[in-house]
Amino acid sequence: MTNVVVLNGPNLGRLGTRQPDVYGTTTYESLVQSLHSWGEDRGMSVEVRQTDDEETLAMWLTEAARARVHVVLNAAAFTHYSRAVAEACAKVHASGVVLVEVHISNPHARERFRHTSVVSGVATGVISGFGTDSYRLALEAVAARTPQ
Ligand code: DQA
Repeated sequence: MTNVVVLNGPNLGRLGTRQPDVYGTTTYESLVQSLHSWGEDRGMSVEVRQTDDEETLAMWLTEAARARVHVVLNAAAFTHYSRAVAEACAKVHASGVVLVEVHISNPHARERFRHTSVVSGVATGVISGFGTDSYRLALEAVAARTPQ
């Protein structure tokens, strides 16, 4: 079975109430449920985590690299500046698993500081701008690259 960990960075736990005009009205809890059911549909084991803490996110990425678990990552604001997250992503990339960078919004259509990602250069690919459906598309991308 393909194992995937979906890692979410700061403020994503407030999905549904946080800037619904940008991030939509789907709550974090409902996204977690959808991720589990999308995973089941594809015969994948999907674990979902969220933290507002940079060190914790870097640690989870390092764990995924060690365990060689595929990663879907929405690093949220850390995407734009965190060297710690970038270096942990580089470890995931080097371990040979799939790393999909995901965003609910399209950062390139927003403020200038969001146009930079320290993750993209070490990601397998990037999916952004499709609302929470970006996560489903990311799981599709992992499924397409891994034997069932
Ligand atoms: C985000 C985009 C980031 O710029 C922002 O800081 C987030 C969410 C997204 O999913 O669209 O927190 O990663």
